[in-house]
Amino acid sequence: MTRTIEDLIPDYIRGLPVYVPGRPIEEVERELKIRAVKLASNENPLGPSPKALEAAKRALNEAHRYPDGGSHLLRETLAARTGLAADELFVGLGSSEIIDLVSRVMLRAGLQGLTSFGSYAPFSVAIRASGAELVLVPQKHFAFDLDAMAKAITPKTRVIYLANPNNPTGTAFTLAELEDFLGRVPESVLVVLDEAYVHYAPSLNRRKTEEIFRRRGNLLILRTFSKVYGLAGMRIGFAIGQPELLAAMNKLKTPFNTSGIAQAAALAAIDDREHVARCIESNAIERARLTEGLRALGLRPVTSETNFIFLEVGPGAKKICDELLQAGVIVRPLGWMGLPEGIRISIGTAEENEKCLMAMSQILTRRAGKSELAAR
Ligand SMILES: Cc1ncc(COP(=O)(O)O)c(C=O)c1O
Repeated sequence: MTRTIEDLIPDYIRGLPVYVPGRPIEEVERELKIRAVKLASNENPLGPSPKALEAAKRALNEAHRYPDGGSHLLRETLAARTGLAADELFVGLGSSEIIDLVSRVMLRAGLQGLTSFGSYAPFSVAIRASGAELVLVPQKHFAFDLDAMAKAITPKTRVIYLANPNNPTGTAFTLAELEDFLGRVPESVLVVLDEAYVHYAPSLNRRKTEEIFRRRGNLLILRTFSKVYGLAGMRIGFAIGQPELLAAMNKLKTPFNTSGIAQAAALAAIDDREHVARCIESNAIERARLTEGLRALGLRPVTSETNFIFLEVGPGAKKICDELLQAGVIVRPLGWMGLPEGIRISIGTAEENEKCLMAMSQILTRRAGKSELAAR
């Protein structure tokens, strides 16, 4: 029997789900011949800091050179800001790269990686791609059930992925809950704490997790420039962790993982505190407005600590997303993330959110009309 290339790919890779990104605005506009707004990928609707854009443009002049493969300047600047040492910082091709590297360093067949149902899909992919067993713990009220997760730890567990706040449900656990959980995790297990949305969370203080890191050798904190800094297209993020772990990740990363343009933009973005403050404030105002607007339509959005809103709308969720798309509003159906009744709506500008609420209102009115007719 002839073997195909597919036969040669290990089962644990062949069985992996495909990551489904939010649909690009241009693609939808081309296909439907309408103007669209994209509220599907939790991007920053205010864009990058103008200072970051300027820095990126300047860095383009050096595009013929390889970048600084160790992101030294950025790590030193981040170190000065956080009070950490530069060798406790690792810069990655978005935090996505770091999520993958952690599992490659820490896991292998025969070991287990732990995370939650209804959390960021790449955690599960990273665990499975290492050949280790994926252990998924059910959520409680759309949030990490840290008690159940602590109980799910076995002698084979090596890595636990947490997102705080969580994507796609938008919930957060408190720092006291985190401390309590960490107290129950053996030192032989690494806890990856993904804080992609931490700036937006009214109930969290990111400085405090940096303090916790100083006391806990088995914690790796992930941050990104893709959200509040508005640099999702640049692909740059970083981790705070033990130098030995970061050195191992360094051996596996590609030699020039982040571009010089992205590094320059990130450096300038950290300095533009006004832009960051403006983005946080605008998000908080629009989050309240969108939440209220959805409630006024009779929907039940989960209280969000992020730049997106999660809600369950019943078995017709995918259909509602399709109808929103037809109306020019791209949101994210969550069936592929194991939440078939869920929708995730990123918080946009006031106009974008208004367009979303209007479209949702029309869809619900149409549906109510249809069920009234059917009931007659
Ligand atoms: C929880 C979480 N972690 C990480 C990422 C990826 O971030 P990056 O763009 O830095 O790869 C996202 C992106 O949506 C996310 O939601």
